[in-house]
Amino acid sequence: MLEIDNIQVSYGEIEVLHGISMSVNESDRVAVIGANGAGKSTLMKTIMGLLTPKAGKILFKGEAIQGLKPHRIVPKGIVLVPEGRKIFPKLTVRENLEMGAYTQNYTKPEFNLRLEQCYDIFPRLKERANQHGGTLSGGEQQMLAISRAIMGDPKLLMLDEPSLGLAPVIMDEVFEEIMRISNELKVPILLVEQNAYSSLEICTKAYVLELGKIYKEGTGDELLNDPAIINAYLGGS
Ligand SMILES: Nc1ncnc2c1ncn2[C@@H]1O[C@H](COP(=O)(O)OP(=O)(O)OP(=O)(O)O)[C@@H](O)[C@H]1O
Ligand SMILES: [Mg+2]
Repeated sequence: MLEIDNIQVSYGEIEVLHGISMSVNESDRVAVIGANGAGKSTLMKTIMGLLTPKAGKILFKGEAIQGLKPHRIVPKGIVLVPEGRKIFPKLTVRENLEMGAYTQNYTKPEFNLRLEQCYDIFPRLKERANQHGGTLSGGEQQMLAISRAIMGDPKLLMLDEPSLGLAPVIMDEVFEEIMRISNELKVPILLVEQNAYSSLEICTKAYVLELGKIYKEGTGDELLNDPAIINAYLGGS
């Protein structure tokens, strides 16, 4: 589905991703874990077309997309829930969800079906449909950001640090719903996280990104039981 082959990405003269290769297949939930500054957001932005790799290839369903601009990539079904959510604070919950649907030419029934899917996954959003986005709690804003992405009928859903700033119990809820979305809507997931434990628990495959390089890869279980990963990312044991 998504094949990344040896991409190198720089900001000006400074190279940040030094030859990254990874893949996301149908029905995969892939986590990329890494510390601050490892290059996680850079990787997401490169896939979305906000940055152009200076070398390497990105294939989506067999088609090379590296170097395409975001407005060409989004309609292919690659949707990003960005770091820090970036919802529209002055718009209501429902209006935020409408914004997520604007790239799709939905008929009214199709739109309503999508909306009901979001409300079914996150009933709290339905209760707050007319509330301004900016007045939602952090967890609710994350739910809204994820739902807005679902409104766009994603073929690949990417999430940049969905747990950032959330209390542990809300974070667990968000991760559970991410798993449910991938299972029920059959959407492959690529998520990047500093929170290694929660993301490894819900993923089918994971990569460890250190200073712009893949340091390790494996299943979630393999990495959860890997002494080097336990020491460096899971707070020892
Ligand atoms: N616009 C930019 N210009 C120059 N350097 C940048 C820019 N954005 C990021 N960097 C640098 O690239 C490196 C990787 O940054 P990136 O934001 O991808 O890290 P990250 O893994 O997402 O970190 P975090 O967990 O803190 O979000 C960092 O050293 C950062 O300072
Ligand atoms: Mg980041």
